[in-house]
Amino acid sequence: MQRKVVLNDSEIPKEWYNILPDLPKPLPPPIDPETRAPVSPAKLERVFAKELLRQEMSTERWIPIPEEIREVYALWRPTPLYRAIGLERYLKTPAKIYYKFEGVSPPGSHKPNTAVAQAYYNMKEGQERLTTETGAGQWGSALAFGCMLFNLKCTVYMVRASYDQKPYRKIMMQIWGAEVLPSPSDRTNFGRSILKNDPQNPGSLGIAISEAIEDALTHEGTKYALGSVLNHVLMHQTVQGLEAKKQLEVLDEYPDVVAGCVGGGSSFSGLFWPFYYDKVTKKAEKDIEFVATEPTACPTLTKGIYTYDHGDTARLTPLLAMYTLGSDFIPPPIHAGGLRYHGDAPTLCLLAKEGYIKAVAYDQVSVFEAATIFARTEGIVPAPELFNLCGHGHFDMHAYDEFFAGKLPKWEYPESAIRDSIEKLKKLYPWIKDIPYLG
Ligand SMILES: Cc1ncc(COP(=O)(O)O)c(C=O)c1O
Repeated sequence: MQRKVVLNDSEIPKEWYNILPDLPKPLPPPIDPETRAPVSPAKLERVFAKELLRQEMSTERWIPIPEEIREVYALWRPTPLYRAIGLERYLKTPAKIYYKFEGVSPPGSHKPNTAVAQAYYNMKEGQERLTTETGAGQWGSALAFGCMLFNLKCTVYMVRASYDQKPYRKIMMQIWGAEVLPSPSDRTNFGRSILKNDPQNPGSLGIAISEAIEDALTHEGTKYALGSVLNHVLMHQTVQGLEAKKQLEVLDEYPDVVAGCVGGGSSFSGLFWPFYYDKVTKKAEKDIEFVATEPTACPTLTKGIYTYDHGDTARLTPLLAMYTLGSDFIPPPIHAGGLRYHGDAPTLCLLAKEGYIKAVAYDQVSVFEAATIFARTEGIVPAPELFNLCGHGHFDMHAYDEFFAGKLPKWEYPESAIRDSIEKLKKLYPWIKDIPYLG
């Protein structure tokens, strides 16, 4: 019996897969609320590297991966594909369960697949510094790692609650040379405005995004990097699915179901897009199903509303067509830090709306039960998420501790809060319903 498949360095993919030309419908464009029209590329160039914007809008199906990036990837890629023999025995299932383990990267998750690429292109375009936000610290540590490798400075706005409660990721970012600030911070106008009214504000991902964007907009040589949601970010993650396909070929297998957890949608998309490509080009051996899992505390795909909404609380980002809980969503304090975002990637939302993806939600107690079963049958302690093993859980011990002590509540986000938030958005932008792209 083969327990895992490990590929050679030479088998690290040479191209990323871009889903845009293969979507069932054109992706609704980001809208500028000032002009009420698609946002102009010049405006976006103030925030993002040119090459990343080119990739964001590209209709080429395959985008070459520069050798310098493949060389960095080779530090931990190709990642292993495991057969979950212990879990299968425990479940007494006839199904074969495989998982791709992204926790072997130096920061411990899938996030450096895009962080390294984003740092590389910004370095090539002569930038000196990148800013970003981070929740529990997975994305921030990935970007700190990427910036270090390409000699860029890195400023990370870390949600205050995590900054105070989870110091180890902060220290990891500092080891790699990043500056880490608790958000809301006194470094930006937006941060200061929040602290003035509420000095103890615990922060949120939406607030931290606003601060990181404001910092990039107001400083020369500085751009912003996002860890999920945008097309180019998800595309960089397709190294996962492309490798997984090769690994399954070695085993002469083809999946019936591809499942992954969704915060903004990058790890799941990175895994399933290459199989989706097989499906739409009729190369798939089977009628494959794609299942997205999310927390009941942040039920974007299962309970959110499909509309245009901002990606951040200060409404600095363009309006994106997506399922959303409302950009003023206050996340309940659940432990799957990376999964607490009010929206999801527009590509993923379109595919969910068109019926290509099934979405399910689980509460955090069930997730920790499953994670403990997994750790006891497969040995790896997973990040508290819902499959596709996109990160180890070595910094989540406090959450496991609370789970064992029976102190974890089963959070469920109330539908009334979602409705209230969307009503506010409709009042702010009464013209949103007239945007032609939503279909
Ligand atoms: C380990 C891990 N898994 C999942 C996620 C969720 O993000 P995404 O849906 O973009 O993969 C994060 C985000 O920070 C993460 O760190």
